[in-house]
This record gives sequence, C-alpha cells and structure tokens, in this order.
Amino acid sequence: MQIRAFEAGDEAGIDGLLKAAFPGPGEARLVTALRAADADTLELVAEDHGRIVGTVMFSPVTARTADGEDVFGVGLGPVAVTPAHQSRGIGVAMIEAGLDYLTTLGVPWCVLLGEPDYYARFGFVPAATWNWSWAGDPDGHFASAFQVKALNGAPADGRVAVAHYHAAFLGV
Ligand SMILES: CC(C)(COP(=O)(O)OP(=O)(O)OC[C@H]1O[C@@H](n2cnc3c(N)ncnc32)[C@H](O)[C@@H]1OP(=O)(O)O)[C@@H](O)C(=O)NCCC(=O)NCCS
Repeated sequence: MQIRAFEAGDEAGIDGLLKAAFPGPGEARLVTALRAADADTLELVAEDHGRIVGTVMFSPVTARTADGEDVFGVGLGPVAVTPAHQSRGIGVAMIEAGLDYLTTLGVPWCVLLGEPDYYARFGFVPAATWNWSWAGDPDGHFASAFQVKALNGAPADGRVAVAHYHAAFLGV
C-alpha cells in the first residue's frame, strides 16, 4: 500500500471509491468540480496493488474576518476509504501525510466538517474556539462538526471570522 499524489488516470478509481463510500454522488461530483476549477490544492490517494482504496482532497478556504480581512488556508474533504479497506489505518495515514505536506508548504491552517471523535487525533479543535464559523451554517447547527487546526505560524488571534469553501462546494 502506498500513499501518493493524484495522477492523471486516477479519476475513475477515485470516482468509484467516493460513490461506494458515501450514500450519494455529491462527494464524487464535488471532487470532479474542484479539479475542473483548479481548486484541488492537494489530492492524495492510497493505492493497494494498483487499485485506489483511499482518497483525500484539500481545497482553498477563505476566512473573512469581521473587520473585512480575508485570510487564506485550506479545507480537508472529502476523505474516503473503500468500505472493504476501512479501519486499517489508511484514513489516518492519508490525512497525516496531507497535513504534513501542507505544513511544509507553509499553509497556515486547515478546516473541515466532520466527526470530532475522528479528527481530534490529528489536533483539530472546534473552530468556535477560534471564534470561527462556517458560512454554510449561519445558525450554528453544525458548529461542533466545523473544526480547525493550525499548521504554521501563530494560532488564531481571536478575531471573529466566517470561513468560505471554494464555490465548487455550492454546486453539489
Ligand atoms: C472516515 C474514513 C475516511 C476513515 O478511514 P479509515 O481508513 O476507515 O480510518 P482509520 O482506519 O484510519 O481509522 C480508524 C479509526 O477511525 C474511527 N472512525 C472511522 N470513521 C469514524 C467516524 N465517522 N466517526 C468517528 N470515528 C470514526 C474508527 O473507529 C477507528 O478508531 P480507533 O483508531 O480509535 O479504533 C472512512 O471510514 C470512510 O471512508 N468513511 C465513509 C466516508 C466518510 O464518512 N468520510 C468522512 C466524512 S467527514
């Protein structure tokens, strides 16, 4: 099993994997849209004997502060492992590889929407502790799922900010 960057020719394998791992086609469509928009900041796959068994995408996110400044980071997701290969550490290995690489690149922070029990192991904390919220959740219904991790530099300065994913997220 190896974890490597996306290569041309991986598209069909990733598409099939996302459709198998999620209940609907939205995540598969989203990944295709992010690639088409050149918003695929980092896309990794896990490959086992020539077959793609895991995938993780990172894409650009803008956090708009209450005083009008835009700060730029990334968002993690979708992430998926083919059902037959789940719970073998592939998800953790892909996410750690991605976060390490983004840290090396100097990316300041990463946000995500997901299960806090899963993502706490990587050091993600509720974004509300930074006074950040997600633009897609104005009423805060998913506040506990919206999480953030500092990758480089100073952690949040406490300013209220609203995070916006790439426009491709709105179309799926
Ligand atoms: C979530 C997912 C990517 C994890 O990948 P994985 O390779 O199965 O996970 P790993 O083997 O690396 O990690 C296993 C651990 O994650 C936990 N875990 C898996 N899915 C979880 C979830 N949804 N919530 C909480 N914990 C979860 C397992 O209980 C296990 O915990 P342990 O290490 O304490 O025993 C994979 O289960 C998957 O593709 N799920 C369907 C798609 C999905 O929900 N994606 C995430 C959307 S946020």
